[in-house]
Amino acid sequence: MQLTDRINRIQISPTSTVIAAADTYKSRGVDLVDFGPGEPDFPTPDHIKKAAIRAIEQNNTKYTATGGILPLREAICAWHKRELGSNYTAKECIVNVGGKHAIFNAVSVLVQAGDEVIIPAPYWVSFPDIVKYAGAKPVHVETHAEDGFMIRAAALENAVTAKTRMIIINSPSNPTGGVVPPDEFEKILALCRKHKIWLMGDECYSHFVYEPHRPFSIASVAGSKENVIIIGSVSKTFAMTGWRIGYALAPEALVQAMTKLQSQSTSNPTSISQYAALEAMTGPMDSVPVMLAEYARRRRRIVDGLRAIPGVTCAEPGGAFYAFPNVAAHLANGSAVSHARAKDSMELARLLLEQAHVALVPGEGFGAPGYVRISYATSLERIEEGLRRIARFLSRAEAAS
Ligand SMILES: Cc1ncc(COP(=O)(O)O)c(C=O)c1O
Repeated sequence: MQLTDRINRIQISPTSTVIAAADTYKSRGVDLVDFGPGEPDFPTPDHIKKAAIRAIEQNNTKYTATGGILPLREAICAWHKRELGSNYTAKECIVNVGGKHAIFNAVSVLVQAGDEVIIPAPYWVSFPDIVKYAGAKPVHVETHAEDGFMIRAAALENAVTAKTRMIIINSPSNPTGGVVPPDEFEKILALCRKHKIWLMGDECYSHFVYEPHRPFSIASVAGSKENVIIIGSVSKTFAMTGWRIGYALAPEALVQAMTKLQSQSTSNPTSISQYAALEAMTGPMDSVPVMLAEYARRRRRIVDGLRAIPGVTCAEPGGAFYAFPNVAAHLANGSAVSHARAKDSMELARLLLEQAHVALVPGEGFGAPGYVRISYATSLERIEEGLRRIARFLSRAEAAS
């Protein structure tokens, strides 16, 4: 079949491939430990679900304004101001079909062939492909496990060229859990202003940060508005991945352009979900610290458990709900195990799924061969079981050598 160049430039999201493979095992009744999905295992809070039911009962089930209902845009601005110290008005806010859609639309209206977009690596799988789909070139700047996968302004500035149009910073990061401290973020903003580059801040995990970190938005810095695009989402913060509501906060002209694109593509995000998101933004947030405390317990266990496996190293994630261990010593080219069964982390992930019934995402998709991503948005009991299986699998591989 003849498809367009632009669709051939991108690949199917590797995380969705793992989720599909894991589902096949589950549907066969296999007892799978699923470290794959990047979504909270908690249910959407009741008060939010009830707001959606009310929306249906009150017939809020029709088209809405393309960029989202005004009360929701106002609520997002008020929430962001209260929680993260920004200062936006409804005209500078658009509601999208998830944070991913907000990123896709913002990149689509700002970036084109000949442009470069700087993305720290390891990166969330969709950033480079969204950039490629827009016709531009992703430029990666490496971060390192020994450094907690910290991205520094100086390293980013080295990658800036006359073609650089945007820098994307995702803090806390999927997949590494790396958090950019406020002072470093301000330096990144300063370099973007100096070079007249857009700074996209993906804040989808803003409220899942561990001591000593605090939720932070670059939009809280005075004078940041001009060249900053904030991407947010209710998916993770409120355990609402399936509702598909995200947003962008950006200069009005950019919001208008994104609204134009949305008007010719998805139209408004689902009306019922918008009313649910309105409740999330205005109602009690008790569920958030409860989830965070549980993620913190799980993080401790998974990081300690991974570090206890010979040949596995794991940086401490500062936020989000992913561990990103280095398993290179267990691969064919690694130093510790000369006869490892897997040649790369892609193959290791496949073997772990097939033989140990553990699903995780290989690092290749995140630009980090030799690593795997483990989502700890699953119960402590499943984490224990998964750790046992991974340790047993890797020690068997060693014994086979
Ligand atoms: C870094 C990052 N940004 C954005 C998103 C998009 O989330 P959603 O489209 O569900 O709002 C995700 C989801 O996994 C993510 O990990």
